[in-house]
Amino acid sequence: MSTTVPAIRTAAIDSVAPQRKKITISALRQKKERAEPITMLTAYDYPTALAEDQAGMDAILVGDSLGMVVLGYQNTLPVTMEEMLHHSRAVARGATYALLIGDLPFMSYQVSTESAVRNAGRFLQEGGMEAVKLEGGRERVDTVRAIVGAGIPVMGHLGLTPQSVNQLGGFRPQGRTASSAKRLYEDALLLEDAGCFSLVLESVPARLAQLVSTKLSIPTIGIGAGIGCDGQVLVTHDLLGLFDRFTPKFVKKYADFHGEMHRAFTEFLQDVQARSFPGPQHSVEMDDSEWQTFIGEVGE
Ligand code: KIV
Repeated sequence: MSTTVPAIRTAAIDSVAPQRKKITISALRQKKERAEPITMLTAYDYPTALAEDQAGMDAILVGDSLGMVVLGYQNTLPVTMEEMLHHSRAVARGATYALLIGDLPFMSYQVSTESAVRNAGRFLQEGGMEAVKLEGGRERVDTVRAIVGAGIPVMGHLGLTPQSVNQLGGFRPQGRTASSAKRLYEDALLLEDAGCFSLVLESVPARLAQLVSTKLSIPTIGIGAGIGCDGQVLVTHDLLGLFDRFTPKFVKKYADFHGEMHRAFTEFLQDVQARSFPGPQHSVEMDDSEWQTFIGEVGE
């Protein structure tokens, strides 16, 4: 993976973080070895990717949560490869340093190993991503091996895997019984052995996530999995308070962008209705002499 960053994309950022290097999968591994927390957020568009990158995020995930928080679907199942690639390209244009990970959508990797490798490759060739993520444990081992074998880094995802929402019976925590915890623990070891460079643990008991994190050499990234993971990820629209439908218990809201949007839109509406917008400072002017010539010509 290249560690050089095109000069044109770094100009604005260099003043903020002159020493920053491009984050690679080995940089994430080194962070785990140094016990430095890894930071990851989702992004689906250019301005968000730019802001996250400038803030210093280690990794940006173009998650298939896109389907719910941006496209308004009830769950992530309808999301297509074309939708993921469209948003991946926008994110890739905004981010310079963060490791970029594209989420393989439902049915893009479950049908055959061949289609999984092809779709993973599209994220790199057409989407500007540097790695892919997929959901599932032991049943994905061959797929992970094949994608990694094609030279594409793979992030695994265990616990609450939203693409299996119908099988799980809803968006609910996983690994809370001894047997399901054991299965998750074994799956984590199998995914590491298959070549995953990192593993998302979603909505699982904190002590289970901590144990898994200590047993694996690859970094774990938790979401609703406690402080014992090697890093943390949140869905950006949850963190910003932009997703109005529901907020999972494990989310910390750092802003109320939905409320702020409502305020701004209401003010605009009131300004237009009161004819107080646009003001002279928002309008284009014309020379008096040009105006007089024009009036003379149209006979007003
Ligand atoms: O799709 C997504 O945003 C994710 C994160 C919740 C990890 O998979």
